[in-house]
Amino acid sequence: MSRSSSAPSPDTILEIIVASDDRLGIGRGGTLPWHLKGDMVHFKRLTCSVPVDSPKGALNAVVMGRKTWESIPIRFRPLPGRLNHVLTRRRDIDLPEGVLSAPSFDDALLQLRSHRPLRIFVLGGGEIYRAAFDDPRSRILHWTRVRGDHGCDTHLPDPIAAGFRRIETKAPELEGEIEFRIERWCRGAFESKEDLDD
Ligand SMILES: NC(=O)c1ccc[n+]([C@@H]2O[C@H](COP(=O)([O-])OP(=O)(O)OC[C@H]3O[C@@H](n4cnc5c(N)ncnc54)[C@H](OP(=O)(O)O)[C@@H]3O)[C@@H](O)[C@H]2O)c1
Repeated sequence: MSRSSSAPSPDTILEIIVASDDRLGIGRGGTLPWHLKGDMVHFKRLTCSVPVDSPKGALNAVVMGRKTWESIPIRFRPLPGRLNHVLTRRRDIDLPEGVLSAPSFDDALLQLRSHRPLRIFVLGGGEIYRAAFDDPRSRILHWTRVRGDHGCDTHLPDPIAAGFRRIETKAPELEGEIEFRIERWCRGAFESKEDLDD
């Protein structure tokens, strides 16, 4: 769909959330190459949280590709407490009630507009991150840096080449043999982390 007067507002901010290894690997064989409880807790807290003074029923939205949707075990999807949106060009996809779908990024944002999510998080996978990096509305990157090379077959585009800069790094965490740290990056006019919600 081409952009028109009904195109999604340019004020919309998209927040990308991802975990990648040292080679920007994000997935292997259609699933995550690691199981990091600390990162899952961070993911859930960030994508579910809404300010206490939000209107009743206010939610954040999570936008993901069809393959990432299918990689979530059936008993865990849709992701609870969030408005789930699946990008697919298939017309015959069978989704549970309340889960939205659209054949393009712009269509997804238009649909979401009428649901008024508080924040919009882009969950991946590789194809969707590429589309999101190409979209100037993607201004915030919640990036978990997993140490090592995990033999991935799906990768994140290079955030530095895409114009993101780091504004926050949390202390490294260790789970089993795997070290990771949670960072926040942004691009555009944000000056510091104080300009951004947690
Ligand atoms: N490490 C992380 O943080 C993280 C996060 C998420 C996912 N992952 C991993 O990433 C891998 C999956 O990534 P992937 O690249 O293979 O698949 P994906 O991006 O999850 O989904 C690709 C599908 O999305 C649809 N699609 C893509 N671009 C579209 C667009 N512009 N408009 C409408 N629909 C669009 C198409 O669905 P149709 O074919 O149905 O048309 C396409 O086949 C898995 O290994 C997963 O575990 C990792």
